[in-house]
Amino acid sequence: MTTTQTLGVVMNGVTGRMGYRQHLVRSILAIREQGGVALADGSRVVLEPVLVGRDADKLRAMADRHGIAAWTTNLDTALADPANTIYFDAQVTTAREKAIHTAIAAGKHIYTEKPTAETLTGALDLARAADAAGVKHGVVQDKLFLPGLLKLRRLIQGGFFGRILSVRGEFGYWVFEGDWQAAQRPSWNYRAEDGGGIVVDMFCHWSYVLENLFGRVEAVTAKAVTHIPTRWDEQGREYPATADDAAYGIFELAGGVVAQINSSWAVRVNRDELVEFQVDGTEGSAVAGLRRCRVQHRSATPTPVWNPDLPVTESFRDQWQEIPDNAGDSGFDNGFKVQWEDFVRHVVDDAPFAFDFLAGARGVQLAECGLRSSAEGRRIELPVLDGKSA
Ligand SMILES: NC(=O)c1ccc[n+]([C@@H]2O[C@H](COP(=O)([O-])OP(=O)(O)OC[C@H]3O[C@@H](n4cnc5c(N)ncnc54)[C@H](O)[C@@H]3O)[C@@H](O)[C@H]2O)c1
Repeated sequence: MTTTQTLGVVMNGVTGRMGYRQHLVRSILAIREQGGVALADGSRVVLEPVLVGRDADKLRAMADRHGIAAWTTNLDTALADPANTIYFDAQVTTAREKAIHTAIAAGKHIYTEKPTAETLTGALDLARAADAAGVKHGVVQDKLFLPGLLKLRRLIQGGFFGRILSVRGEFGYWVFEGDWQAAQRPSWNYRAEDGGGIVVDMFCHWSYVLENLFGRVEAVTAKAVTHIPTRWDEQGREYPATADDAAYGIFELAGGVVAQINSSWAVRVNRDELVEFQVDGTEGSAVAGLRRCRVQHRSATPTPVWNPDLPVTESFRDQWQEIPDNAGDSGFDNGFKVQWEDFVRHVVDDAPFAFDFLAGARGVQLAECGLRSSAEGRRIELPVLDGKSA
């Protein structure tokens, strides 16, 4: 007979976009539906969510809708219950550090959305506190699990590129100002004083994507700007957008690869996907997006001839070859869910989990150095973090 154990998971910030959709519905409830997380010995771990937030009515309605037994507006009450082994945080970034410290003090294992903290000092403090308390810790690094990037990783591991020279990333789309069409993202993202800003938001993603696929970021040169200075919030009130809404960055990686990534909430999409990375290597090139990945091998590279006097005669996009899914019958699972399962195995089975608070701190470090580079107009080298010094 299969043995089963139950873990209580305190989920804070579950009324938010990420907390609700990606983590509660598409991860924890999806895991519940599939009968829990399978461990190496064949036993299973069932997750029991405890919803925590500020608005009792919203929490009650959400618990009723999904048949969840436990919810509370009091974090301490949820943390006091020894059945609750894991604390998860998807609150606004500014509320995160304090809540995680409280959960560490209560002896919980911690899993959190990024960025782990608002400053590098704060992020390293969290890493040290979690280590000192002997609790396990992890941070969401969902982009690595995107089908397009999994295909890219497969190409890298298979030696497709030869020597990788450069990476060019384009990320973003138009986020409406909120006056004549509603903004698609919460307004706090556009106020620096509330933890907003595209550098803080996206550079922690670029940190782990670059590090895990191409090499650790050793230096950054960035220009962060606020293209749209005025926006309208959820109540239709006009507010000054004090945070950067676009960032143009150059990242120098260990091993010599140069990556350049544009991130913008003020760009209209003329690409196949909302994020795309072009990787050029001596043996071949690839363009990877959220789901797709196309390649052009050295042997199939055409001979473009620069002649502005003549119209273009070939379709450059059609000269690339699609990489198949090859991911088994189930296709690619949702990356947020895959990472939750890995973290649960890390907690219960001591399985390895690379995306810990120190990795989270490297993301915060890159954001901090990117903003400094922009403010001071210079290239910034990133010291290697060992978790001991800030
Ligand atoms: N991994 C990703 O791809 C990804 C994408 C978007 C956002 N995020 C991260 O997830 C976190 C939440 O972002 P979101 O887009 O879901 O935001 P959101 O505004 O939709 O949700 C924020 C949540 O925090 C709660 N909250 C707690 N204290 C608050 C306060 N003082 N003011 C306002 N809300 C408060 C809200 O009730 C809500 O549940 C952020 O840290 C963000 O960086 C990650």
